[in-house]
Amino acid sequence: MPVLLSPPPQTGLERFLSAFKGEQPDSTPIWLMRQAGRYLPEYRELRARYGFKDLVRTPELATAVTLQPLQRFDLDAAIIFSDILVVPEAMGQPYYFKETEGIGMTYALQNKADIEALNVEAAKEDLLYVKNALKLTHQALHGRQALLGFGGAPWTLGAYMVEGESSPGFPKWMTFAQQEPALFELLMTKLCEVLIAYFKLQIEAGVNAIQIFDTWGSLLTHPQDYWHYSLKWIQTIIQALPAEVPIILFSKGSYADPKLLLQTGARALSLDHSISLQAVRESTPGDYILQGNIDPALMCGDSADLVKAVKHLLASMQPYGRHILNLGHGMTPQSKIENVTALIQATREWKG
Ligand code: CP3
Repeated sequence: MPVLLSPPPQTGLERFLSAFKGEQPDSTPIWLMRQAGRYLPEYRELRARYGFKDLVRTPELATAVTLQPLQRFDLDAAIIFSDILVVPEAMGQPYYFKETEGIGMTYALQNKADIEALNVEAAKEDLLYVKNALKLTHQALHGRQALLGFGGAPWTLGAYMVEGESSPGFPKWMTFAQQEPALFELLMTKLCEVLIAYFKLQIEAGVNAIQIFDTWGSLLTHPQDYWHYSLKWIQTIIQALPAEVPIILFSKGSYADPKLLLQTGARALSLDHSISLQAVRESTPGDYILQGNIDPALMCGDSADLVKAVKHLLASMQPYGRHILNLGHGMTPQSKIENVTALIQATREWKG
């Protein structure tokens, strides 16, 4: 009698790549936005010794923080520890965290001279520390997990740069975008140039995919506006990058038709928890990948509620495949560690 051996479990990298190839992985690949962060005691310990920017800008430290969640949890991808705001910083406009909550920029962009002063060439040089952090992390992963690079969408970065801080409706930014078309275009053009170079250096360092965060796409409520002010610029970036490295587009609270998001050339859409992924699949057939979209609030509550939501989501995605499990937005500092374990276990154990 031949002995039937079950195949060895796939590596995280294999699971992750299988989603992009449309193959059936042995379990749905999973990683989490804000995978490292304040919910982890080992992160808080490092943060007590180093500033956020020291962690981000020192490749050994950025690698150590990137690996922290992987040492604790069976995740399929590592996202490099950094922030979307390193790009304005590299162009000459630094960011800081406010005492209370939220982001401040040391000054707001107000006029043509401010935008002209943003230094594209210096930014490309400065951001080389991210390449070094990615290379170190890539080596440390030994091909076991996928490595993700990321950056902000030009629209979302511009929102912080012109507003000068995080703000619910970004009123200064909205007025600027509408009333100063030439300055808006100049800023977007400069951001695109830096982001294209930045993503290319991430690719050179060995990333398996890149996630573009358009967190503030939700400020644009009409599809034509979303295309004109945000998606068109994302398309410009994606078209300038080699086609082999898939781009995941994260859009939060987006009112837009998923077909419009896909017109950017993104291979995967990462959507927040305000939308049903199943409804997206039904309205928009295609071989794109969907990522998401567990409500991050469930990470703070009863794990039974979380597991129920995970099973429901996995069941709804099963007929379609091409799904990467993630949260609809980032992990909050209040997230419970045992809920992360429960989320991963429920995903691994799930059989349709
Ligand atoms: O996901 C990961 O683990 C990779 C690291 C990562 C961070 N920020 C680290 C971080 C990623 C992918 C981001 C993306 C990011 N940063 C976005 C887009 C995604 C989203 O959440 O919408 C945005 C808008 C930012 C800007 C930013 N940085 C905000 C709004 C904040 C929170 C500020 C606050 O007061 O809560 C940050 C800070 C930040 N970035 C932290 C981490 C771990 C926490 C800060 C700390 O450790 O002190």
